[in-house]
Amino acid sequence: MKDQRQSESLQEKTQSAGERFSSSGFILAAIGSAVGLGNMWKFPYITGQYGGAAFFLLFVICLLLVGLPVLLAELTVGRGGRGNASTSLIRLSGHKLWGGFGFITILGAFVILSFYAVVAGWTLHYAMLSFSGELFKHNDFGLLFSDFNNSWMPVFWQFIVLLLTGFIIMRGVSAGIEKFNKILIPGLVILLIVLCIRALSLEGAGEGAAFFLKPDFSKLSAESALVALGHAFFSLSLGMGAMMTYGAYVDKRQSLGLATLAIGAGDLIYAFLAGLIIFPTTFVFGLEASQGPSLVFVALPAAFSAMPLGSFFGGLFFVLLAFAALTSTVSLLEVPIAFVREAFGWRRSFSVIFLTLLCFLIGLPSALSLGNKVPWLTFGGKPFFDWMDFVCSNIVLPLGGLVVTLFVGYAWRGAAEEAGLSSWWLRLWLFMLRYVAPILVLLVFLYSSGIIRF
Ligand code: TRP
Repeated sequence: MKDQRQSESLQEKTQSAGERFSSSGFILAAIGSAVGLGNMWKFPYITGQYGGAAFFLLFVICLLLVGLPVLLAELTVGRGGRGNASTSLIRLSGHKLWGGFGFITILGAFVILSFYAVVAGWTLHYAMLSFSGELFKHNDFGLLFSDFNNSWMPVFWQFIVLLLTGFIIMRGVSAGIEKFNKILIPGLVILLIVLCIRALSLEGAGEGAAFFLKPDFSKLSAESALVALGHAFFSLSLGMGAMMTYGAYVDKRQSLGLATLAIGAGDLIYAFLAGLIIFPTTFVFGLEASQGPSLVFVALPAAFSAMPLGSFFGGLFFVLLAFAALTSTVSLLEVPIAFVREAFGWRRSFSVIFLTLLCFLIGLPSALSLGNKVPWLTFGGKPFFDWMDFVCSNIVLPLGGLVVTLFVGYAWRGAAEEAGLSSWWLRLWLFMLRYVAPILVLLVFLYSSGIIRF
């Protein structure tokens, strides 16, 4: 009882007025976190590489079977523990060990932010280039992209992204994160619709759309299934404490089950519409959708340069990408902010300044490793940037997901009550968390860390 009172007062201290989401604000902020570069930059090229529509179907299945149960688990832990991704686990279990696992996910979020901000910076640079018409003075977009990476510009834009992110977070949960998402998400929806109409009205758009919509199951492999599951995690912002952190700011009366469905639907619809923009656009102009990470920055500028009003639509496209990225960077930064505020009692403003600067420094090697400036940042066959992405997305993220899954499935008895599901849904949820999700997540981990191969 005394313990409980003590932790209540700590929660009050760290969660003063303004540190709670409104009901709609929470849903929008969580969708903002989920929808990001993962949907618009990573999803199209992995879909291109792993089998088009058949891969998309796999992604939907993974999202439903594993993604949504784990998302609900994270939100439930956050609201039940009302702390950061580490203290929530300690409070609910009474064991420090769980907090240690939680701490690793917090570090993971911080490191993801360090290289995610680099790509977010590229989108701002390309939006500027496109609107000013500068982009279309070039005709070799591959060269333009590598020249950009050989310069100092990526570092400048990475800094701007972190500055904007810090500026939003500084204002707190309700006046900062929530308000910002309430403005950006409608903007995102409008841009997405405008660009979808543009892409689908291009002559010959049907063929590109067909690649994305007609499943060819012969292209599927165990590898594509694991990539799809890994991406379902990344896309829903799972495994790195982000949804646990947001969950801590949610009102007790909110239905977490419905919120989970809304976030899942938002993420899926967004990925689907992004596919309807990118595949037709690249196909019409004879470009390959399976090009890899440079798809959006090399193939798409080429496509926009060949269409009427291309600099306007190209600019809109990169602004859309930048909006999506910023609502995600905000959620990533809040994870370590919540931690240092509670652990060291720091004020929000100081925590933000300290962590954004630190993140900028940690992200420098990522930003610089993709050009020719610092050759030793490429080692073991990969640039430093790719190493960070590899370790976070393929190792820390599935492990973080596994921790939450096992915690809610086996260790925390109060989960059922906090989640507030009706009995049928509750049984289904616990079944998924106990038996389905851990096995699949373990497989992803073993596969993507290179321990097993097919
Ligand atoms: N989900 C975001 C995207 O698709 C990225 C992201 C934001 C994320 N927060 C996260 C990924 C936390 C993993 C964990 O771009």
